[in-house]
Amino acid sequence: MRLAFFGDVVGRAGRAAISEHLPRLKSQLQLDFVIVNGENAAGGFGITPSTAQDIFDAGADCITLGNHSWDQSEALTYIDREPRLLRPYNYPQSLSIPGRGSQLFTTASDQRVFVIQIHGSAFMEPLDDPLQGVARALEEAPLGQVADAIIVEMHAEATAEKYVMGHFCDGRVTAVIGAHTHVPTADGHILVGGTAFQSDAGMCGDYDSVIGMKKDPIVRRAATRLPTERKSPAEGPATVCGVLIGSDDRTGLARSIEPIRVGGRLPETLPKMD
Ligand SMILES: [Fe+2]
Ligand SMILES: [Fe+2]
Repeated sequence: MRLAFFGDVVGRAGRAAISEHLPRLKSQLQLDFVIVNGENAAGGFGITPSTAQDIFDAGADCITLGNHSWDQSEALTYIDREPRLLRPYNYPQSLSIPGRGSQLFTTASDQRVFVIQIHGSAFMEPLDDPLQGVARALEEAPLGQVADAIIVEMHAEATAEKYVMGHFCDGRVTAVIGAHTHVPTADGHILVGGTAFQSDAGMCGDYDSVIGMKKDPIVRRAATRLPTERKSPAEGPATVCGVLIGSDDRTGLARSIEPIRVGGRLPETLPKMD
């Protein structure tokens, strides 16, 4: 299978870039399944039904959220109506959190893709233990039995914590891909047990910014220590950042992981098709 994961869509510029590039990428790269992180889609903070619709219309099969899941209060009810939208899995089980953190999808060619989003603990407001969370989620749909491919999004700040998650899942899932830092890392590779890994997929947003937000007020605030206007998304041309994961249909493990970067300011890189 050919699965793509795209990092956090930031604001209008990110949505426009996804709408512009994803339909073509889907056919050009022959994608069977597409996951897009949408936690910053609505004005940089959270998601609304209409911003989610833009991303689904562009060709996403699944949208994930993260620490910004509930920045727009509409998401609290929308998520219960939209099974393709995932929030972090590892909220404390004792709480009644809307929505779901994992979902089993069926592709057009009848293959089953299980997606899990896990929220990190380091340098961000922690939820429940990420490793216990992913272990519990994996019991729902083991690779090769219930799922033909499993993608874990590790939504986390700390690179080391993302590597811990990668190695913990190695051999049990198709890929562990990081999101949340908004910068694509150059460490995409296949771990020894056969799981594809990359610390961060990067964002779909304008890189002439501070991780997707307008740079001037943020730099001014840092330089002067005085308050400036509220953060808002940068509006220049956005780069669509993601990874393409090739999976083995027999084992469900990864055969390849390659970066995808199109548009905006970052140098373009696209997987070669044979
Ligand atoms: Fe984000
Ligand atoms: Fe995040």
